[in-house]
Amino acid sequence: MKKIVLKSPLDMHLHLRDNEMLEVVAPLSAKSFAGAIIMPNLVPPITSIKDLIEYKERITSAVGSEKFEPLMTLFFKSDYNYNFLKDAKRYIKAIKLYPSGITTNSEDGVSSMDMEDLGETFEAMSELEIPLCVHGESDGFVMDREAEFCLIYEKFASKFPKLKIIMEHITTKKSVELLKKYENLYATITLHHLYITLDDVAGGMLNPHLFCKPIAKRPEDKEALLEVALSGNEKVMFGSDSAPHPQYQKECCGCAGVFTAPIALQALVQLFEKYNSLENLEKFISINAQKIYAFKPIEKDIVLVKRNFLVPSSYGDVVPMFANEELEWDIEY
Ligand code: DOR
Ligand code: ZN
Repeated sequence: MKKIVLKSPLDMHLHLRDNEMLEVVAPLSAKSFAGAIIMPNLVPPITSIKDLIEYKERITSAVGSEKFEPLMTLFFKSDYNYNFLKDAKRYIKAIKLYPSGITTNSEDGVSSMDMEDLGETFEAMSELEIPLCVHGESDGFVMDREAEFCLIYEKFASKFPKLKIIMEHITTKKSVELLKKYENLYATITLHHLYITLDDVAGGMLNPHLFCKPIAKRPEDKEALLEVALSGNEKVMFGSDSAPHPQYQKECCGCAGVFTAPIALQALVQLFEKYNSLENLEKFISINAQKIYAFKPIEKDIVLVKRNFLVPSSYGDVVPMFANEELEWDIEY
C-alpha cells in the first residue's frame, strides 16, 4: 500500500472553542497535527495573559496524552502597549486582528473607523517581532469584502515594513497577487477554499456546512489559490480555519465555519496527489510555517496510507466536510 510520512504537520489557523466542544475537537486536531495556531475568538475573547494561560491549560488537558503544541494568540486590542506586549511575547506566537462584527465572536474587534489608527500597537509588535494575523474583510458586499480589504493590507504592509502580516484564509486571486507584492505579507489557505467555490455552497441545494467567512468565491479564485499552494510558495502555509459549530446551529441559524480538522490531512494528500505536487506538500503543511513564524515544532510523524477512508457523518454533534463521503487516503494510527 502506498504510504506517505508527514513530518510535524501544522495547522496555522484553528478554532478549538471551549468547554464541551473543546473536549470533542481538541483530540481530533491532536491526532493529525504536531501543533496549531489557536484562534482567540472565545466569548469573551482572549485579551489577557491570565486568560490565555488558563485557556492553554484547558486545551492541553482536553488533548490528553497525544503530543500536540497549542500555539497561542491574543485577540487584538488597540490599547495593548509595549510593556504589555513585551510580557505577552513569552506566551504567544501572534496576535489576531478581527474587524468588528465581521465573523463569529468578533464584536470586540476593530471598527472600520479605527482601522487606520493602530500605529502604536503595530510599532510595538514590529519591534518585539510579534506577527499580526488578520481576518481581512471589509463590511461591504459579501463577495467583495476581501478585495476591499486589500487596500487596508497595502497600508499596513507599506507603513509597517517590519511587521509580519499574515493574511488569514485568503480566498481570492487578488489576494494572491497582493501577497507577492509586499515582502512582509504572508497568508494561510484553508482546505475548503482549495476544494470549493460559491457554487458548492449555494449553487444547488443550500449547503450550510460549507458556509464560512470569507465565503468561497469564483472558480478563477480557487485556481489561483491552488496554484500558489501546490507550488510550495514560501509565503503561504496551511491554516484549516476549522471552525466547529453544533449541527443544529449550522442548519437552523447558518453559523459560519467549516469543520475540517479530522479530515484535513487526508484531503490535502489527495489534492496534492491529484495535481502531481506531493513533493511540495511538506512545505505547505509544515516547512513554510516554521520559516514564517521562525520556530521549530515538536517532532511528530503522521503516516498516511492510500486506502479508502469513509468520513463519519459527525464527530460529537459537529458535521465535518466530506461527511459520509470517501476520501482516498487514511491516517495510520
Ligand atoms: O467561517 C468562519 N468561522 N470564519 C471565521 O473567520 C471564524 C470562524 C468561527 O470562529 O466560527
Ligand atoms: Zn478563523
